[in-house]
Amino acid sequence: VSIIHVHSNIRDYDVTFEESPAFINDLIQLSPRIFVVDQNVWQIYSDSILNDLPREETIVLPVDEDRKNYESVAYLYNQLIDRSAKRNLILISIGGGILQDITGFVASTLYRGIKWIFIQTTLLAQCDSCIGSKTSLNYKGFKNLVGTFYPPHSVHIYTPFLKTLQPLDFFSGLGEVVKLHIMGGDDLIEKYSSIHSLIISKDPDALRQAITQALCIKMEYMTGDEFDLGRRNLLNFGHCFGHAIEAITDFSIPHGQAVVIGMLLANNVSYERGHLTKVVYNDLSEKLLMPTLFNPPARKDLNTVEIINAMKKDKKRVGQGLSLVMLKGDYDLIKVDDLSETEVIHSTQTLIDQLKI
Ligand SMILES: NC(=O)c1ccc[n+]([C@@H]2O[C@H](COP(=O)([O-])OP(=O)(O)OC[C@H]3O[C@@H](n4cnc5c(N)ncnc54)[C@H](O)[C@@H]3O)[C@@H](O)[C@H]2O)c1
Ligand SMILES: [Zn+2]
Repeated sequence: VSIIHVHSNIRDYDVTFEESPAFINDLIQLSPRIFVVDQNVWQIYSDSILNDLPREETIVLPVDEDRKNYESVAYLYNQLIDRSAKRNLILISIGGGILQDITGFVASTLYRGIKWIFIQTTLLAQCDSCIGSKTSLNYKGFKNLVGTFYPPHSVHIYTPFLKTLQPLDFFSGLGEVVKLHIMGGDDLIEKYSSIHSLIISKDPDALRQAITQALCIKMEYMTGDEFDLGRRNLLNFGHCFGHAIEAITDFSIPHGQAVVIGMLLANNVSYERGHLTKVVYNDLSEKLLMPTLFNPPARKDLNTVEIINAMKKDKKRVGQGLSLVMLKGDYDLIKVDDLSETEVIHSTQTLIDQLKI
């Protein structure tokens, strides 16, 4: 069993890589506890890994981006209160990033905070969102507009869950894995490339290695800035364009895949500004980013007018210009607030040409 210790200003906690599903039985022994399970995960695993979960203390929640809202939260408050939840309740969630955001919000607000344990079942949640302390709800069509900072009390990663992910969801998570490895520089990019095909085949050791690296890089950027006021912002590499693309495609392009497209666009801006050499720019595209794109986007998904409008609505934008996190030199990251509309148009057109869409 390997463990990553995460420091948080709210509480420290451990991320444990589990070797066998026996850890679930240990969690069942806790008391008082209630499980909340993603409906799709429940359908797949209720007769196998999750067979011993006590049925009367398991809430199965339908999960999609449209349900990441206050209604799901209120539903859970009601379910928990009906089951006589008290302040000493332990909430145990099993699912992906959406279930994490909903149940984390519930755990952080019910009785001003109850104990919360999380078992991630998607690659995106295992490699990225499980650490970071953020809980988020969508509100009035805006993604992640409402939320709290609340880390889980413990995180358990069991990579065999990833075997049943839809390929598009797996590649979405892979987008964040690749982003974090690029942020780690030459060595990590090399390491990742050498195991890329093992990761795609879901080899447990390769997955564990890549997830561990990704979490360590994320931790490095969060240290000293848990509440996202400065350096942590650089983790938004790929996300400035990415969030815009998610929004204009009505989330039909999943988060991590939009981030891959976002990195391709951001790297083009870096290259044009002279911050990346042609060799590095091409290598990143051909060896890492293009192989992580599950499907090329449709041409209409890269409509520049809509991308620019969506970027203007970014909740983190404070100045007049558009903001962009991009690479500079040897994998350093910078955040600029003077991205021009011309640069958006040029980088988008270049990508459309490269993808021949
Ligand atoms: N709080 C944070 O710090 C943070 C960070 C990044 C992303 N997020 C949020 O996470 C969400 C995306 O998370 P995600 O990519 O994990 O998606 P998700 O939770 O929507 O899961 C993707 C799909 O896979 C299904 N699924 C989950 N586990 C499965 C399994 N083992 N086998 C088969 N199917 C399974 C789900 O039911 C869902 O249909 C977004 O809402 C995003 O905003 C939050
Ligand atoms: Zn992300």
